[in-house]
Amino acid sequence: MIYKKLLEEARSVREKAYAPYSNFKVGACVECEDGSIFSGCNIESASFGATNCAERVAIQIAVKEGHMKIKRVAVVGQIPDVYPCGICRQVIAEFATEDFELIIPDGDSYRVHTLEEILPFAFKGESLDV
Ligand code: THU
Repeated sequence: MIYKKLLEEARSVREKAYAPYSNFKVGACVECEDGSIFSGCNIESASFGATNCAERVAIQIAVKEGHMKIKRVAVVGQIPDVYPCGICRQVIAEFATEDFELIIPDGDSYRVHTLEEILPFAFKGESLDV
């Protein structure tokens, strides 16, 4: 089951988080359109603003490997209900497929959200086609 696999990967990469300032570790795993999978953890900085969220790290690795279409993102945080921050939602929107799904753990199960649910009225590249 792909949803559980993505959550397992996110849970596992979470251990690698570098979060000495917040102590809040997050793991994310993205599934690209062709089925390839990349994971990332949050990487903090003493300057705080230079911190990278787990979702963006995973997406950056996928893009660096040549995958521009992201079908699913699973996020596992320190507490239940860790959802992507606003900046990550914008980055997800940049690379999300039409049928994109956000996967969030919910006890032994999970919740699935669409891009429209997490970022309605998104500002996208098409908006710049004037
Ligand atoms: N963080 C993530 O990596 N992803 C999220 O979805 C929420 C927040 C990180 C950023 C920072 O390192 C720490 O969690 C506390 O905000």
